Amino acid sequence: MLNILAISGSLRAASTNSALVEALAGNAPSDCRVEVYDGLGGLPIFNPDDEGERTPPEAVKLIDAVTQADGVIVSCPEYAHGVPGGMKNALDWLVSRDAAVGKPAMLVHASPRSLYARAALAEIMRTMSFALYEGAALEIALLGKKPAETEMILGANRQAMRDAVQAFAGFIRSR
Ligand SMILES: Cc1cc2nc3c(=O)[nH]c(=O)nc-3n(C[C@H](O)[C@H](O)[C@H](O)COP(=O)(O)O)c2cc1C
Repeated sequence: MLNILAISGSLRAASTNSALVEALAGNAPSDCRVEVYDGLGGLPIFNPDDEGERTPPEAVKLIDAVTQADGVIVSCPEYAHGVPGGMKNALDWLVSRDAAVGKPAMLVHASPRSLYARAALAEIMRTMSFALYEGAALEIALLGKKPAETEMILGANRQAMRDAVQAFAGFIRSR
C-alpha cells in the first residue's frame, strides 16, 4: 500500500483545487491511500530563525507528513502569474530538510490556464530535489465552476483520476 499526501494550494471554501485533491483521495486505486493535507492555512509564515528546535508544531506536522508519505500530489491555483503565498510558504518550510529530497511528486491541474504557476512550481520543487513525475499530467477544467458543477465534472472523470494516481504509483515503485 502506498501512502500519498495530496496538497491543495487554495484556501477557498469552494476551492476547485481542494475538490480535485479530495476526489483523488476518494477515487484512489485500491493499492494507494491518498490523504489530503489540511494544515496549509494554519502554517506560520516561514522564518529561517524558526527552524531546528524552534520549528513550530504546525510545520513539524507538515514535515512529518511529507517525510512519511511515499509521494506528494500538488494541485495549486495561480495568483498574478505566481504560486499563491500559502503554497510557497508550505514549500519553504520543507527546503532545508531531507523531507523533499528524492520524494516523488506530481502536479495536477484544476485549471487549463495557470501556466506560470505550473512552471514556477515545477522549478521550485525540482530545486528542492523533489523527484517530479512528468508523465501523465492530469488536468480537469474546473476553473470558475461552482461546487455542484465541480462535483459533476469530477464524477465524470473518476477513471482519469484513478489512472493518474496509478501512473504516479508506478513511478514511485520504479524508483
Ligand atoms: C487574486 C487572484 C489572482 C489570480 N491570478 C490568476 C492568474 O494570474 N492566472 C490565472 O490563470 N488565474 C488567475 N486567477 C484565477 C485562479 O487561478 C483560478 O480561479 C483558480 O481556479 C482558483 O482555484 P480554487 O478554485 O482552487 O481556489 C487568480 C485568482 C485570484 C483570486
